[in-house]
Amino acid sequence: MTTAFQDDRTALVTGGTSGIGLAIARRLREDGLRVAVLDLDRPQARSVANAEGFPLIAADLAGREDCMRAVPEAVAALGGLDVLVNNAGFQHIAPIAEFPEDTWDAMLHVMLTAPFLLTKLAWPHLRRSGHGRVVNVASIHAQVASPFKAAYISAKHGLIGLTRTAALEAGEQGFTVNALCPAYVRTPLVEHQIADQARTRGITEAQVEQTVMLESAAIKQLLNPEDVAALASYVVSRAAWGMTGAVLDLDLGWTAR
Ligand SMILES: NC(=O)c1ccc[n+]([C@@H]2O[C@H](COP(=O)([O-])OP(=O)(O)OC[C@H]3O[C@@H](n4cnc5c(N)ncnc54)[C@H](O)[C@@H]3O)[C@@H](O)[C@H]2O)c1
Repeated sequence: MTTAFQDDRTALVTGGTSGIGLAIARRLREDGLRVAVLDLDRPQARSVANAEGFPLIAADLAGREDCMRAVPEAVAALGGLDVLVNNAGFQHIAPIAEFPEDTWDAMLHVMLTAPFLLTKLAWPHLRRSGHGRVVNVASIHAQVASPFKAAYISAKHGLIGLTRTAALEAGEQGFTVNALCPAYVRTPLVEHQIADQARTRGITEAQVEQTVMLESAAIKQLLNPEDVAALASYVVSRAAWGMTGAVLDLDLGWTAR
């Protein structure tokens, strides 16, 4: 498919076999990039990567060793690395007083430490690229809080700090670092939350969407993964060379009030 941004760069998308990551991987490929996806070593991830024709870097970003080998493996698979999309993540909902410590550790590792390690290891390749890009998929929960999501919100707030610091350090080295902050997007992660909340609250899934997930939104409609991918496509494009350290809201008007 021909798009505005025909390109010859290479990209690694973490969490790239589901939801937002898969939409970004597909969109960057449409834009002309060669794309590899990183995901957990699971049959589901393998079959999506195979069906889509993306090389799969099988790695668990909750562990440091897997993070350290992911970038060299991606470089070997792609012949270089110009674009890193730190997207992998997961949610666990519990009050702080009951939040499992090992779940906290895993969430902080996947959603904050892994983006740091992958950015660190990708750094020489991004610098060499001349048009390198790091895109960190944060969340509107990088800017506002909600109860019972302490690890997720802490990791995402931290990711904004990493984005801004890396952007300052990368400025003279020819690549950009930005963060995307979507509100709720219709993905497997959110579909599970909707079903859980409907059961817990004894209301319909449509009511959960309108009264729980979209309560603070001006536009009362969930985003689609392709909406986030379109924003990522622009940030990755050569046209966006002057945008760095940006925290880009795609939040249905959530933070306007
Ligand atoms: N869905 C939303 O409403 C929403 C909103 C804002 C931000 N986000 C963020 O977008 C990103 C993608 O979320 P999604 O909704 O597409 O979820 P998803 O569950 O559809 O996809 C997440 C992907 O990350 C992978 N992943 C999880 N743990 C991993 C690990 N330890 N190692 C390697 N890969 C791992 C999963 O296997 C999966 O492929 C996440 O960072 C999430 O926080 C989602």
